[in-house]
Amino acid sequence: MAKMLTGIKGLDDMLHGGIPHNKNVALCGGPGCGKTLLSFEFLLFGAKQGEAGLFITLQESEKSILSNARATFSELSEDIQLAINDKKLIIHKPSSLDMNGLLSYIEKTVLEKNIKRVVIDSANVLKLNFKDNYTYRLTMQEFLIFLGNMECTMLVNYEVSYSERDKMKFNLEQFMADGIINVYNLVRQEKRIRALEILKMRGTQHEKNLVPFRITTNGIQVFVGENVY
Ligand SMILES: Nc1ncnc2c1ncn2[C@@H]1O[C@H](COP(=O)(O)OP(=O)(O)OP(=O)(O)O)[C@@H](O)[C@H]1O
Ligand SMILES: [Mg+2]
Repeated sequence: MAKMLTGIKGLDDMLHGGIPHNKNVALCGGPGCGKTLLSFEFLLFGAKQGEAGLFITLQESEKSILSNARATFSELSEDIQLAINDKKLIIHKPSSLDMNGLLSYIEKTVLEKNIKRVVIDSANVLKLNFKDNYTYRLTMQEFLIFLGNMECTMLVNYEVSYSERDKMKFNLEQFMADGIINVYNLVRQEKRIRALEILKMRGTQHEKNLVPFRITTNGIQVFVGENVY
């Protein structure tokens, strides 16, 4: 199966070469765990290779996403500016949360700009559109299938409220997704340690261990083969 490199150092090894093409991956984690930055780097990597990416932000403003990413990834600041200038990295905050409006914006942009990578950050608020879980699940599933058919590989960020791995509960979203990557901010004695795991990835083998990672000025670095305990 053809795969798309995430460009996150270490993660592509864990994925045995990247995310299978046209799949959607739920990137789940608590506050400040690195969802926005990781998904941003996924798009930046594509942009640097000439592959256009669309970052849909549903909470933070476009300006805030961009300025935080440039501040954190200070060594990549020029690449980020170049990607924005070349329209290889498009950051968009919809004016409403209406699903149909969002879908038609994405469809139009994907076709016009030949988008290959899409990020939704974060998708939790979309649930507010729905009266019940049944219609939510059906609509979200259609939405994900539609984008897969348009040949987009997606990271869909979800805010979850667990901090430890063994307390994790599974949500509807995690069953819908083709893949799940969990990011954690674990408590170890007086310290917090960032770690991630690939919980599932349909269509490929992958590493299953919990692995530490760091957010650096040069991007995210996953330390494959190291332990968090
Ligand atoms: N230069 C840096 N070096 C190391 N860590 C940094 C740096 N800049 C920011 N961070 C860390 O990155 C975190 C923010 O990551 P990010 O915004 O991706 O999290 P998130 O999972 O999207 O959070 P939220 O759910 O609140 O949106 C900050 O809370 C901070 O701990
Ligand atoms: Mg975020």
